[in-house]
Amino acid sequence: MHEFVTLNGNLREPAREPHAQANGHGPLVFIQTYGCQMNVSDSQTIETMLSDAGFGFASRADDADVVLVNTCMIRESAEVRALGQLANLSALKKTNPSRVIGILGCVAQAKRKEILDSYPYVDMVIGPDSYRKLPILLEERRITPQGTPGLLETTLLRDELYDDIVPRHHGGVTAFVTIIRGCDKFCSFCVVPRTRGRERSRPLPSILREVEMLADQGVRDVMLLGQNVDSYQWEGRDFADCLLAVAELPSIHRVRYMTSHPSDITEKLLRTMGAHEKICPYLHLPVQSGNNRILEAMNRPYTREHYLHLIELARKHVPNLALSTDVIVGFPTESDAEFEDTYSLMREVRYDTAFTFKYSERPLTKASRMNDDVPEEIKVARLEKLIELQQQIARERNLEQLARTTQILIEGPSPKDAAMWTGRTPCFRPVVISRNGESVGDLVTVQLKTLNGFTFHAERTPH
Ligand code: 5AD
Ligand code: SF4
Repeated sequence: MHEFVTLNGNLREPAREPHAQANGHGPLVFIQTYGCQMNVSDSQTIETMLSDAGFGFASRADDADVVLVNTCMIRESAEVRALGQLANLSALKKTNPSRVIGILGCVAQAKRKEILDSYPYVDMVIGPDSYRKLPILLEERRITPQGTPGLLETTLLRDELYDDIVPRHHGGVTAFVTIIRGCDKFCSFCVVPRTRGRERSRPLPSILREVEMLADQGVRDVMLLGQNVDSYQWEGRDFADCLLAVAELPSIHRVRYMTSHPSDITEKLLRTMGAHEKICPYLHLPVQSGNNRILEAMNRPYTREHYLHLIELARKHVPNLALSTDVIVGFPTESDAEFEDTYSLMREVRYDTAFTFKYSERPLTKASRMNDDVPEEIKVARLEKLIELQQQIARERNLEQLARTTQILIEGPSPKDAAMWTGRTPCFRPVVISRNGESVGDLVTVQLKTLNGFTFHAERTPH
């Protein structure tokens, strides 16, 4: 049914300029992407496949022959947004009935029937592991526009890695590279294992080839992506080996990654991070809750104490480590006292950044069988309390950086002042400096002088 292409073979590089755009031939596609970096990366993979098949790209849905919406359903709000967008698509179909409308991503995977029943103008619904079929499905639909309504492809393929396809790079010094797809963790609140299927690691040689191709296009900073990168395994190589191999590529200045899991992260990884200059001292380690009973109910098999021990280890091995996390408030049955454990953990760890969410019930999850019994106003109050704490800590953490000497990677001219560069520190803090003969992608040693909001102004330091 589909072709599994392993490595060492030919990785297909995307056409730099989509042909149709340039010369007016071929149908034009518009892709609207919602959700996580994985969805962004998947959309870029789709762009390469479609570009290879002769499609071009439109910058507005109105100008496109094919409109694809890549959806997210991690929280109810994301799903509502995706479905709202679907409702808007009917106008696009009315103005041009031969325009093909396709729904991709996690909502497509989990809600295919509902979409086809409720939105009759949708031509196809395609889940994250079936994108290889898109060019053929689109071609069939274009040849027989009145064909079967709701062409549908949502099989969860256990081994799909899109391993031979380099996602289309949109310029800039940073790129995402997927190293592992799917998730086997089954956190009780999370729909991802149901929409993205089982965990599978990508062969290391193809990761390295892809990074090298991206480097040829000017990429210097690579973000390795996966729902749980720490469980990467390929022919006896673990995630630390993979990270190190990418960092050792001469054309790459920086490598980062997300997301880690407290049950799987290893001391070897933390040691590797600390020992290699090119590996950014940045760790995204979601805690979700600071209370052991709630962690157990979430099916997060670690304790608050173990998590805090990991943070201590990480800070020991990686100097100037920046830390971020994900936190959920109002998980079913969470009491005030249990929420306070999350609050105190955040005060103790002092994250640089925290992504805080109100629990929302997701279909197909174990937690959806529990009663979502924390009232909305309590969820809101807990969330606001965490956000206020985190804003204060983030401000303090930023102020601690002032006067430090660090290296920034130049990303481009500052949007506010073309005489300035904007760049980022290894911890991904935004910095501006005056332009002085450097190029995009250069590393410059600077001292952080002042802070304006979240952006630092810096000055070069002599080497
Ligand atoms: N409700 C609220 N937040 C959720 N997340 C995942 N599922 C849910 C849910 N049902 C959050 C987790 C995860 C992040 C990507 O989204 O914190 O780490
Ligand atoms: Fe969802 Fe948990 Fe997997 Fe993350 S680790 S994708 S939260 S199931």
